[in-house]
Amino acid sequence: MKNNLAVIILAAGRGERMKSALPKVLHPVCGRPMLSYVLDLARGLKASKVVTVLGHQHQEVKKLMAAGIKIVVQKRLLGTADAVKAARGALGNFKGALLVLYGDILLLKKETIQGLLKYHRENNLDAAILTATVEKPQGYGRILRDEYSSICGIREEKDADDYEKELKEINTGIICFNKEKLYAALGEIKADNRKKEYYLTDIIRIFYEKGYAIDGVALSDINEALGINSRQELSQADRIMRQRINEKWMQEGVSIIEPAATFISYSAKIGRDTLIYPFTVIENNVKIGKSCSIGPFAHLREGTVIADNVVVGNFLEIVRSRISSKTLIKHFGYLGDARIGRQANIGAGAVTANFDGRQKNITVIKDGAFIGSDTVMVAPVKIGKAAVTAAGAVVLKNKNVPDGQRVAGVPARVLKK
Ligand code: UD1
Ligand code: MG
Repeated sequence: MKNNLAVIILAAGRGERMKSALPKVLHPVCGRPMLSYVLDLARGLKASKVVTVLGHQHQEVKKLMAAGIKIVVQKRLLGTADAVKAARGALGNFKGALLVLYGDILLLKKETIQGLLKYHRENNLDAAILTATVEKPQGYGRILRDEYSSICGIREEKDADDYEKELKEINTGIICFNKEKLYAALGEIKADNRKKEYYLTDIIRIFYEKGYAIDGVALSDINEALGINSRQELSQADRIMRQRINEKWMQEGVSIIEPAATFISYSAKIGRDTLIYPFTVIENNVKIGKSCSIGPFAHLREGTVIADNVVVGNFLEIVRSRISSKTLIKHFGYLGDARIGRQANIGAGAVTANFDGRQKNITVIKDGAFIGSDTVMVAPVKIGKAAVTAAGAVVLKNKNVPDGQRVAGVPARVLKK
């Protein structure tokens, strides 16, 4: 059932502090553009309307949008209040709660937002602000409170005086509004601040002066509040998200010896009882089966699918390859575009020469094959069932090794039995 809720995602900003050619909201966190996490969050809330405000490089960012999410373009980036104004038309005659999310705050959990929405609804608030109390409030807007300790405004860091800068209670940026009251008052915001921007956060003082109901909900896990404005914050977000991903896999029955040194992308999948040694990088669209042993220092790239009971040992790079069960690849090497059967043994230093300068070619290694140390397989090529390559063999392209045969040398030739 759709809720009486609309969501606006603000993602038009330039992200100047990133110093990047890539729009800020497209920077990846654990292999996924940060805005995708926010879009997921909005979708998970089952809002009746989701409007995303784009601006800077909007053509690029648009490619990320799924059906059902409205896009509006903020023509001039005049600040967060102006961005909210730009979304007005797309909201039509919607009446109810309006949640504002920021495209650079991606660690928020659905339950946290649901708590904020519930508080907003149950207390009949006009503005419910998600707040956090942090040791280092630098960069965030500070929550101002009156002598009764009621929230009476938000002061942006750039405009804060020394006293206000000491305040540790911050605005996470996430606020749930009464939609009609917000749009009725938005015009009162002025750009009379250091940045000469229309700050959405100024609405809180305006609401306060009108006697509207404002309150805050404090975050329990302050990590969720992290807003990404710089490369430092991007790396912090990556670390926190990585930890969540690793914890999820451990809960699913995967052993990770040192989570702080294990890098699993957002969309990778790993089976039970698989053991992951440190300094392993597992990228998107990688699937690992059950009871495998991976690493240390393994780099599993896009499109690699590994079946059950496979060993991928030290210093291996594997990309777009399929490896069937019980195959052992225990020592360093490179396997690209390979199709490897069951119970094969790939010796130390095996290399698929998959790129001929123009295109990537496939190497097929069939069940039970034994690839000797330092074998180079120039693709396209096939190594037959239970075939053997001797150490140092260079198997030239299209010189397929028949089932059960042994080859040796440079270039590799079939050995007489
Ligand atoms: C904002 C808040 C600050 C809060 C912090 C939390 C304001 C004025 N300040 O500051 O109180 O503590 O987030 O992380 O809101 N955007 C637009 N159009 C614009 C300007 C910005 O869509 O014209 C978007 C950006 O793409 C971004 C979001 O709004 O996703 C917030 O903008 P940003 O510049 O990151 O604001 P902060 O300085 O982080
Ligand atoms: Mg920000």
